[in-house]
Amino acid sequence: MTEKRFEICPTSELPPGDRVITTLDGISIGVFNIDGEYHALKNDCPHQRAPLCEGKLTGTTESTAPGQYEWTADGQIVQCPWHGWEFDVTTGESVFNPHSVKAKTFQTTVESTGEARGGSSAEAAGGSPPCSSCETSEVDGEPPVDTYDVEVEHDTVVVYL
Ligand code: FES
Repeated sequence: MTEKRFEICPTSELPPGDRVITTLDGISIGVFNIDGEYHALKNDCPHQRAPLCEGKLTGTTESTAPGQYEWTADGQIVQCPWHGWEFDVTTGESVFNPHSVKAKTFQTTVESTGEARGGSSAEAAGGSPPCSSCETSEVDGEPPVDTYDVEVEHDTVVVYL
């Protein structure tokens, strides 16, 4: 199958840390400059189809040993603007799905300890479910986001589909 070639912009218009979101052949795609290397990612979050490429660019934390953490991939991780799922722009792989990790919660109550105070009690927060818009049936193994080949040809950023 023949690849389709799309000229995006001159390299001077896409400096490191910047991105262009465009529609190529009917597909919304984000083209990113990550430290001088260009990457193209489908602008479609696999969770609930948010415009993923509009998300904040950040990094991630890796553990090098128990109790030791290192900030890595700075500016290479895009965080979905809707619910925060994170993807590596260079590979499309999921870095962190907040729905696949859950801290244990416990029921708590406040109870009167003396008769003079009456018998009021109230439930405190604890264990509130995630927002309904965040619920998903697929919590593990979500597919990666599609990526596309990007070349620089005569100082022009070019994407191939
Ligand atoms: S739509 Fe992207 S995290 Fe929900």
